[in-house]
Amino acid sequence: MATASPLASAPAGAGNALQTAARPGPLLLLGAPGVGKGTQAKELVRLWGIPQISTGDLLRANVAQGTELGMIAKEIMQRGELVTDSLVNEMVAARLEEPDTARGFILDGFPRTLGQANWLDERLAATPGALPVVAVSLKVDYTQLLRRITGRRNCPVCQRIYNIYLQAPRQEGICDDDGAVLIQRSDDTQLCFEGRMATYENLTAPVIEHYRALGRFAEVHGDKPVAEVAAGIVSAVEHLRA
Ligand code: AP5
Repeated sequence: MATASPLASAPAGAGNALQTAARPGPLLLLGAPGVGKGTQAKELVRLWGIPQISTGDLLRANVAQGTELGMIAKEIMQRGELVTDSLVNEMVAARLEEPDTARGFILDGFPRTLGQANWLDERLAATPGALPVVAVSLKVDYTQLLRRITGRRNCPVCQRIYNIYLQAPRQEGICDDDGAVLIQRSDDTQLCFEGRMATYENLTAPVIEHYRALGRFAEVHGDKPVAEVAAGIVSAVEHLRA
């Protein structure tokens, strides 16, 4: 008889038992712009009850609040380049101090350079009792990525992610959940996407090779319905943790 895995997906409502039984540990979601990291992180938060830490979201919050970091980050993000390792590492370090990360966390969009990866590896190695990090990279082809980026719309209230071509809201431009007017990220243009892709190929692709070489890495096809991609990630994490 098959035994249910503590990390396996479960219907809404059964999540609390799973959340206390399993300790998913730190998971890195890697992949190109628009591949579905944020969408999948939200699915895994619901399943595992551990927080999503999106460096893109944290930086955008700093930009919106006009902090010193936000003022530095704004132009860099608009060019599709990366904010410096030291600033991003410091931001992640502060977030990892929060108690909700004790059972694990999902890092979405971090690390993005080998410098960030080395910093994270050292930090986790120095954290007593921390499970080793596992990394999952999502794969989607270039044409589909462009469609995902240019069609993306976000709810500024609940952060739900839509796509006018692929995952449209019931009423155009309005969030299904709270009725807020959806917004488009300023870096979701074709021009900026091309810059982000170049940055990804040059600086982030080596991070994938870094975790592949450590043997704590899996690749999951992202061009499937959201629930199927999430099931693929859960299965990959179970395998890597076994
Ligand atoms: P960030 O916000 O991290 O952007 P990104 O990596 O380019 O990723 P995205 O958020 O664009 O895409 P995603 O993979 O989360 O896709 P999503 O789930 O939304 O970073 C922005 C900027 O901040 C960077 O360019 C950089 O300047 C800076 N930055 C961030 N982190 C940094 C770091 N560590 N170091 C330095 N600088 C940093 O999905 C995309 C679309 O596809 C949506 O419309 C969604 O509805 C749709 N979709 C998703 N999955 C599916 C599916 N299965 N089927 C159909 N549609 C789907």
